[in-house]
Amino acid sequence: MPALSELCQEIALCQKCEVLAKNRTRVVPGEGPEDADIMFIGEAPGWHEDQQGRPFVGPAGLFLEQLLSSINLKRSQVYIANVIKCRPVGNRDPLPSEIGACRPWLERQIELIHPRMIVTLGRYSMAMFFSGKSISKIHGTAQKRDNVIYYAMYHPAAALHQQSLRQVIQKDMLKIPSLLAQAGSLKEAEQPPQQLSMFED
Ligand code: URA
Repeated sequence: MPALSELCQEIALCQKCEVLAKNRTRVVPGEGPEDADIMFIGEAPGWHEDQQGRPFVGPAGLFLEQLLSSINLKRSQVYIANVIKCRPVGNRDPLPSEIGACRPWLERQIELIHPRMIVTLGRYSMAMFFSGKSISKIHGTAQKRDNVIYYAMYHPAAALHQQSLRQVIQKDMLKIPSLLAQAGSLKEAEQPPQQLSMFED
């Protein structure tokens, strides 16, 4: 069995967070090809994802699919995962302890997929890769570290709550193809990859 499928099976049995494990319907490890160029990382499964065991299959997922199609990509061509793999009851924010417990799963996914670009969707995902930054300041900007492009975007669900963000998110998505095309000539950031951190905003 491919290493990534084996890892997802392991994730599906995770019992590290007692409350999340007890209340989930399904674990949502992530999905997409092991050789994906781009990895999108959201926050946490919502109700629809918890029911189906698949990431971004609710209204935010529908918008994500539209965004992908604006750059001629299908969801089956990218890897989609979340910072935490189980739905927090009532869609509350993930706890720092849950993010910490789940982080090794995401790190192993990144190691296996080895994407050329990691797109963070929303504050929680951004905070894992851009230390101490504010999403309102860095959305639509990229940093290259160790030959991987890290790119911060607002969460697609933000557009569902705040109509004015819709165009911002659409515009940020449209920058992805040229960033990938110019990857070789992008300068490496001076700072080393950041550890899990708090965020502003
Ligand atoms: N929001 C997320 O952050 N992830 C999902 O999988 C669905 C909605």
